[in-house]
Parts: sequence; C-alpha cells; structure tokens
Amino acid sequence: MDATAINDSGAGRTAASITLENLGKVYPDGTVAVGDISLDVGAGELAVLIGPSGCGKSTVLRMINRLIEPSKGRILIDGEDVSTQDPVELRRKIGYVIQNVGLFPHQTIRTNVGTVPKLLGWDRKKIKSRADELLELVGLDPGRYAGRYPHELSGGQRQRVGVARALAADPLVLLMDEPFSAVDPIVRGRLQEEFLRLQAAVRKTIVLVTHDIDEAVRLGDRIAVLAEGGRLMQYASPAELLSHPASQAVSEFVGTDRGIRRLAVTPVRGAMRPVGQIEEIDRLPTVEAGGTLYDALAAMLTSDSLNVVVVEDGKPVGAVSRSALFDVPNEEAAATSA
Ligand SMILES: Nc1ncnc2c1ncn2[C@@H]1O[C@H](COP(=O)(O)OP(=O)(O)OP(=O)(O)O)[C@@H](O)[C@H]1O
Ligand SMILES: [Mg+2]
Repeated sequence: MDATAINDSGAGRTAASITLENLGKVYPDGTVAVGDISLDVGAGELAVLIGPSGCGKSTVLRMINRLIEPSKGRILIDGEDVSTQDPVELRRKIGYVIQNVGLFPHQTIRTNVGTVPKLLGWDRKKIKSRADELLELVGLDPGRYAGRYPHELSGGQRQRVGVARALAADPLVLLMDEPFSAVDPIVRGRLQEEFLRLQAAVRKTIVLVTHDIDEAVRLGDRIAVLAEGGRLMQYASPAELLSHPASQAVSEFVGTDRGIRRLAVTPVRGAMRPVGQIEEIDRLPTVEAGGTLYDALAAMLTSDSLNVVVVEDGKPVGAVSRSALFDVPNEEAAATSA
C-alpha cells in the first residue's frame, strides 16, 4: 500500500485523515506535556495547533510521526492506528518540517531536498529532477539555489527549502512546526501566501504549529487552541473561533481585535440582503461576491458609505450595510455556506 500511496502524484490517494483519540503525554520527569486531546483532521485539511510556549504543540506533532510515543490514547491515520505501523515506514508517508528548519549544513540544497527520496532508494537522476521540481514549486530557481549550502540562503529561503524537503516523497500528511517563524512579518506574509497556493495545488493533510493567531486564521481550515499542560481549549473554524470563543481564556488568547479578524475570514454573501431596498445604487461602492466582510468594510470606509453593493460578473446581486457586518448570527450562516 505504501509504495503506491507515496509515489502517487496523480489520481490516487494523496492525503489521509488524522484522528487523535484521548491523546496524552507525560514525560518521565512527570511533566504533563499533552493532557487529553481528541480531534479529527479531514483528508486535505489544514489544522493549526496554537498556544503559548511549552503547551505541548511540538509534542503532539512528534507523536503523530512516532518520534515520541504517547502515554495514553491513540493516533489514527486513515483509520489505522499508527502504533501498529513500523515507525520508519510511517515516517515515509509523513513529511515533517522541523522547528527551526533543521537543514543539514554540509549538504547542498538539492541534497537536502532529496533526503527522503534517497532513503527510499530512488535513483540519482530521479532524485535530482524531483528536488529541482520541488524547489521550483516553492519559488526557488534550482539553477541558482540547488548547488548552494544552507548558510548561503536567507532565513525565508531556508524555510522554503524545509517545506520542499518535507514534500519530496509526496507524503500523505505534512507536519509543520512553526515553519514561518524565523522571518520578518513581510516575508512571512509572502511565504504564507505562497504556501496557500502550494496547498491549493498539492492538497495535503497538514498539521501546522504556530504562535501567531493571524497566521492561524489565515492558513487554518480549523484551529486547535491549546493551553498549558496540553489542554485543548477549542477546536473550530477561524470564523467560529473568532465569533464564538468557547471561554474567556480563548477570547483573551485570540485578542481584542478579533472582531476585525473575523471580518477577514467571513464571506460577504452571508450578510447580503436584496438590492431592491437600496436607493442610488449606482453611487455606492462595490465588493466582489467572492470577497469577505473585511473587503466590504474597506470599501465603505474609503467611500464614507453605510452600504456596499455586492457584484458578481459585473452585476449587482445584493447589498451589505455597515451594521450587518457586526451581526454575528448572519456571519455564522455565511461561514457554513462558504
Ligand atoms: N524530553 C522531555 N522531557 C521532559 N519534558 C519535556 C521534554 N520535551 C519537552 N518537555 C516539556 O513538555 C512541554 C511541552 O513541550 P513542547 O516542546 O511540546 O512545547 P511547545 O508547545 O512545542 O513549545 P514551543 O512553542 O516553545 O515550541 C514543555 O513543558 C517542555 O518543557
Ligand atoms: Mg515547539
């Protein structure tokens, strides 16, 4: 099964579901790193683990690929208990982007990217072409970068190499531990955008760790908020997390500006009402039907208007008022219909 799954880049299975069942980890010194976590990540979904330093995020990732064994509970990948699988076989199906990148300093970028294919015994030519294909995919010209060593790259470029290396053997699952943390906010924004494009193309099942709530909201299909002692506080879509934090603690964690963040992840359609009730429709600002409430607010603010017209293929299909932007029940309908 593995061989076909790993090498399958086309029609077959390219992603797998992940289930954590009452997962817990107590280290030998008594540290409770992970309390009791149960959650599902659907095939092709991106789940974010977020929480303060030391709350067990890396420990969860490392239990998924069996670098660490759980103290209790189970992990299923496509319904199969990972503890029954050979760890080496298992890790071939799982790409891992290590916290702080972890490239091999004395190997070229191409050799770094080809690490897992080499372990799998691919021939040299195939490893080289796969490595170059991946570098291309993450936006690094192989002609320019493949022969360099990690210290000859910027921090952001090294992080992209880390992502390319994790994707090299076309894994079913990708684990990413703070993959974009070592770069400034502007480069991080660019990397995140590239990464979203990449994910739209490869559709892996991804578990990504971050400290950054904006990154979580931007990238995650669902977000797991963890607290000290590896306690799962909430597991929800970005829109749900921002509009209905499950507790005071989550609410504080997602921040006082969560209202604005929520707008950016909520489709404009859910807050629309019929255009019929609007006067002087031609003079109002417009927003595309595929946009978010954030886009609608931006249009209102720049034209000092209380309404915005939603257009699709150049035709008005509805309108949104400024008060509707902050109408949370509407937003829920929008989030589920998105
Ligand atoms: N081998 C170990 N022995 C004992 N305690 C450990 C061990 N490894 C990690 N821990 C502890 O387990 C807890 C969770 O660690 P983990 O690395 O999973 O945190 P994290 O959420 O990834 O933190 P960060 O955001 O700083 O990377 C921490 O309190 C840490 O000190
Ligand atoms: Mg960590």
